[in-house]
Amino acid sequence: MKGTIAVGPGDGIGPEVVAEGVKILKAVEKKYGHQFELRYFDIGGVSIDKFGVGITKENMELCRKSDCILFGAAGGPKWDIPGTKEYSNFAVLQIRKEFGLYANLRPVIVFPGMEGCSPLKPELVKGTDLIVVRENTGGAYFGQPKKQWVENNERNAIDAMLYSEHEIVRILKVGFELARSRRKKLASVEKANVTETGKLWRKIATEMSAQYPDITLDHMYADATTMWLLRQPTSFDVLVMGNLFGDIISDEASTLAGSLGMGPSAQIAGLPKKGEKVFGFYESAHGSAPKHTGKNDVNPIATILSVALMLRYTFGLEKEAKAIEAATAKAVLTHRTYDVMEPGRIKVGTKEMGDVITAAL
Ligand code: IPM
Ligand code: MG
Repeated sequence: MKGTIAVGPGDGIGPEVVAEGVKILKAVEKKYGHQFELRYFDIGGVSIDKFGVGITKENMELCRKSDCILFGAAGGPKWDIPGTKEYSNFAVLQIRKEFGLYANLRPVIVFPGMEGCSPLKPELVKGTDLIVVRENTGGAYFGQPKKQWVENNERNAIDAMLYSEHEIVRILKVGFELARSRRKKLASVEKANVTETGKLWRKIATEMSAQYPDITLDHMYADATTMWLLRQPTSFDVLVMGNLFGDIISDEASTLAGSLGMGPSAQIAGLPKKGEKVFGFYESAHGSAPKHTGKNDVNPIATILSVALMLRYTFGLEKEAKAIEAATAKAVLTHRTYDVMEPGRIKVGTKEMGDVITAAL
């Protein structure tokens, strides 16, 4: 098959991890006879330096004309000054909204042999394989009003946690459908005990569950969810939630795997129907880690696994996606970057880790 990918390495360690993502992509091309055209573009701080904005209109168009985006990371102390509008991650939010990428999938897998990397006891995390489905274009991130103002001599601020029915329905649908393709368990996460959005969310989830009799639906409060993720991570399969809770809980969940360097992310415009390409924005869940730039020491796995998600969701190449995941699982048995280093493994840098996974593929 043929595909076009807009590649935005971005700032800090972004270019280093994206190079490893591209390496695995080239290996997939060769092994399975596909062809991916890569179109590089500037995003984040590098784009601010060159053009004054996090992403230019032209580059937005380049993304629109591609099947999907592979992204490194954006930001750094040079650009991220609180209060400025064009802070480097603004481009990321723009892309989410512009392309309607309402579903953010963040899988967390504790690979066999890596239980010892987790901050939790190995016996607790063994076998963890869950996926956080975060609503990505609504809620407190985008709801109006969103502003600061002065009244009675004091400063006020508001972010409206606004959800319309269609937004809740479509993200819950992603949750139910994903659960159906996995272990058939869905945790619907909200604060129905306090918020109106939570009450509506819970009502809609209950109504929709009638169409999914094969799925076990659990309604869970967001606060309790954070607790259960630490107590019993293996009890989770698919978790679905609003934007702000998803931002927080996906970070917590990704830590179970031992390092932010292990967590991939797919932001997509819904799950693809069979034979259909869905636009997506694929990135590691970690940031630009400015202190590590140019050191060839960070973990490329999050980006490599993001490429697997790209093949799965945008290009419908499930076999190839699984092959990358299996190659990664094999590679970590023997080789590790510093963030997940354990006794008895060979310590390697970013490029070398990419090489080992590519060889395993
Ligand atoms: C994430 C990040 C972003 C978010 C930031 C960088 C705007 O934390 O992708 O989770 O808050 O969504
Ligand atoms: Mg976040």
